[in-house]
Amino acid sequence: MDWKAYYKEHTATAEEAVKHIRSGDRVVVGHACGEPSFLVDAMVSNAAAYRNVEIVHMVAMGRCEYCRPEYAGNFRHNAIFVGGATREAVNSGRGDFTTCFFHEVPGLFHTTLEPDVALVMVTPPDENGMCSLGVSVDYTYSAVKNAKTVIAQVNPCMPWTGERSLVSVKELDWIVEHEAPLIELAPPKIGEVERAIGENVASLIHDGDCLQLGIGAIPDAVLLFLKDKHDLGIHSEMFSDGVVELAEAGVITNRRKNYNQGVSVANFLMGTKRLYDYVDHNPSVMIAPVDYVNNPWVIAQNDNLVSINSCVQVDLMGQVCAESIGQTQISGVGGQVDFVRGAAMSRGGRSILAFPSTAAKGKVSKIVARLDAGAAVTTSRNDVHYIVTEYGIADLRGQTLRERARRLIAVAHPDFREELTEEYGRHFGEAPAV
Ligand code: COA
Repeated sequence: MDWKAYYKEHTATAEEAVKHIRSGDRVVVGHACGEPSFLVDAMVSNAAAYRNVEIVHMVAMGRCEYCRPEYAGNFRHNAIFVGGATREAVNSGRGDFTTCFFHEVPGLFHTTLEPDVALVMVTPPDENGMCSLGVSVDYTYSAVKNAKTVIAQVNPCMPWTGERSLVSVKELDWIVEHEAPLIELAPPKIGEVERAIGENVASLIHDGDCLQLGIGAIPDAVLLFLKDKHDLGIHSEMFSDGVVELAEAGVITNRRKNYNQGVSVANFLMGTKRLYDYVDHNPSVMIAPVDYVNNPWVIAQNDNLVSINSCVQVDLMGQVCAESIGQTQISGVGGQVDFVRGAAMSRGGRSILAFPSTAAKGKVSKIVARLDAGAAVTTSRNDVHYIVTEYGIADLRGQTLRERARRLIAVAHPDFREELTEEYGRHFGEAPAV
């Protein structure tokens, strides 16, 4: 059957399509701003027909109504990353959390987390019957390949993001046409502290470096201070609107990349319509599956790979928690360790963990003697390289425990240096040499 006839035969309404989800099924939902909210809403509206449907989702940007207490018998959320809309369900025990490096998630989809159903969003097909997964190729590509049933929202607002993002119409079991703007992530607010951190991080970045940028205010603040750099490259888990500005200004050229030269590479995108318009049919952008983009070996193919991420707490040995406050899971490892390790393996590579020195309106220090009880070690002390706050840069690689503690205290908030210094004295039996 030619793809046009197949497409017609497999087109359904959202209400019809979600009837193919059965009680006890595992449903993988497209990631971040690529979430097919129209299909998720239809599934939730049909909740009474289901018992124990497992919803596997990573960065959940939609309403996540399946997490609500009233749907506890119908849906159970299994998070690979926790966000604002899913925290309560996961931490109250109504949901679960599966911990996994982002680049290994597609592997789970043909082993322990095999999906019964994938809910995804794609572009309309091209003349060859191929659709692009647009802003969410990441694990969504693997979900399409491994799910027994694929339900796809065909949305003309989804940008076309190149060869590595394509799936065939014939891989889609149910096709639901629905045009709607994508979820947008507004640019974060950048204050004085973020600007100071951005300036410190920018001082570690050189012309020709290839960057990975995490989510949030800090990476965006870094971009503000890169305007006078030359020939930067992008090989990142995701990127946002800030990259568009630097690409249009000629700062990001990808010219000096020695792998995927001339092309900005990521596995998903989060931003505004400006970003989505920029990447659409743009030959200088490649959005590809996460088991390729975040594979540390692939990351390391580019020399001078600089990864920039954030965290919750760092102890005086340099152990980094980036995903929980004590035992309360607030996010996940995501691609942090993928890129920390890829950067370490890259010739001339550097990894940076940058964060404000305090949290909770200045009441707690993020640099602590010991991680809170139950906190997860996201990046180990063996992997950590640069720690950056608004007070400076601590280079921890190859340093003794004593020297690490000394360097970390020097970039802690001044209000907390005294108690950290006392702890140093108790541990090492001396005051840190200044
Ligand atoms: N003690 C108590 N609370 C803390 C804290 C600490 N040490 N550190 C952070 N918090 C609180 C904040 O106050 C904030 O609370 P609120 O939501 O009530 O305002 C919340 O935790 C989130 O912290 P914030 O600093 O606003 O988060 P962020 O948006 O800058 O993200 C991470 C920081 C660490 C959560 C985020 O970078 C992350 O998830 N990292 C892991 C994944 C990753 O690195 N991926 C990389 C590739 S994209």
